[in-house]
Amino acid sequence: MSKLADKTILLIISGGIAAYKSLELIRLLKTAGVRVRVIMTRAAKEFVSPLTVASLTGEKVHDELFNLTDEIEMGHIELSRAADLLVVAPATADLMAKMAHGHADDLASTTLLATDKQVLIAPAMNVRMWTHAATARNLAKLKRDGALVIGPNEGEMACGEFGPGRMAEPAEIVVAIETALTSKTGALVGKKVLITAGPTREAIDPVRYISNHSSGKQGYAIAEAAARLGADVALVSGPVEVPAPAGVRMVAVQSAVDMLAACERELPCDIAIFAAAVADWRVADEATQKIKKDGKGVPALKFVENPDILKTIAKRGSQRPGLVVGFAAETENLIENARDKLSKKGCDLIVANDVSKDKNVFGGDQNSVHLVTASGVDNWGPLSKHDVAQRLMGRLASLVKGQP
Ligand code: C5P
Repeated sequence: MSKLADKTILLIISGGIAAYKSLELIRLLKTAGVRVRVIMTRAAKEFVSPLTVASLTGEKVHDELFNLTDEIEMGHIELSRAADLLVVAPATADLMAKMAHGHADDLASTTLLATDKQVLIAPAMNVRMWTHAATARNLAKLKRDGALVIGPNEGEMACGEFGPGRMAEPAEIVVAIETALTSKTGALVGKKVLITAGPTREAIDPVRYISNHSSGKQGYAIAEAAARLGADVALVSGPVEVPAPAGVRMVAVQSAVDMLAACERELPCDIAIFAAAVADWRVADEATQKIKKDGKGVPALKFVENPDILKTIAKRGSQRPGLVVGFAAETENLIENARDKLSKKGCDLIVANDVSKDKNVFGGDQNSVHLVTASGVDNWGPLSKHDVAQRLMGRLASLVKGQP
């Protein structure tokens, strides 16, 4: 029996010449026993006929957002709810831009904005459109939001040019679908892991903010390691440049207050790892207009303390995660300070690292860490941040094993 039998795919076809290849994709999926439901954009219908799509899928094609009959029988939310995976093939530059910016002006974009399911996109466009900085920015945003991407391939294009931009072949897209849907195995299957990462940005006015040098690399590597062990991972992240790890649900935030609210929404969870470099203070009265240089001297900023996210969640009574892990970035008295943090913040384990300038931890790829628990200290490294992540998740997986 095919790995995909009895799965439901919601296929979104947008308007590019590669839309004809989506017909072959539907055929392959149907042969594998998949139920394929299709949304076509207005432009897609210029390239392939809805009647052909309906004949291949054996289902009605969905196209209009405000189709009363559809909304009564099966709303656009229901279309995504009933699917195991959303696949956008071809994903045009325009639809990718809409997705990246959260537009919702037709059924395809509205469904993509409203879904909580994994989305796989197969971009297809002219080589110049693909290599344009705007498309690269949109692609990076989509990856950060957790989208999976297959292709595009390089080759001769319908427009006569040569280069990357051809949609991945239908058979390749089927393999990507299988990979996305294959049931997980690993020590953390059935466990939910919450991870914070990156810096926070505390606004001074609409154009200025206070932040720090955190790259998010260590937190992202931990999220990736947790997902590899089969965990359901929520990565609550401040603004960073690192791409979203595969199979991780991204929650993008800016300030410490937003980060705390996002973490609270992820409770209950089995493991919570607080790797973010949260700003300790925020500006007391964030200005609603840009503060002007008016010649009357420099502004005096007043600060208030930010909530301690780790401490708040660790002391959450019945909603306390089974295991709470904190980080301690120190420039002196590393172990002593970490032990102090362990008890003050109420966590089970502290990962302590020396962030003195010469150690190049902020933004670097290496880390030397000390695992501090009530029962002792383990010294790891120097190791790559990926190795630290893997070892840490291995250790945490063994610790939660015994927990209900
Ligand atoms: O107190 P300090 O900032 O050194 O503590 C570091 C640990 O606490 C890290 O795990 C960090 O993510 C977390 N933290 C937090 N909220 C804050 C400050 C720190 O979650 N406001």
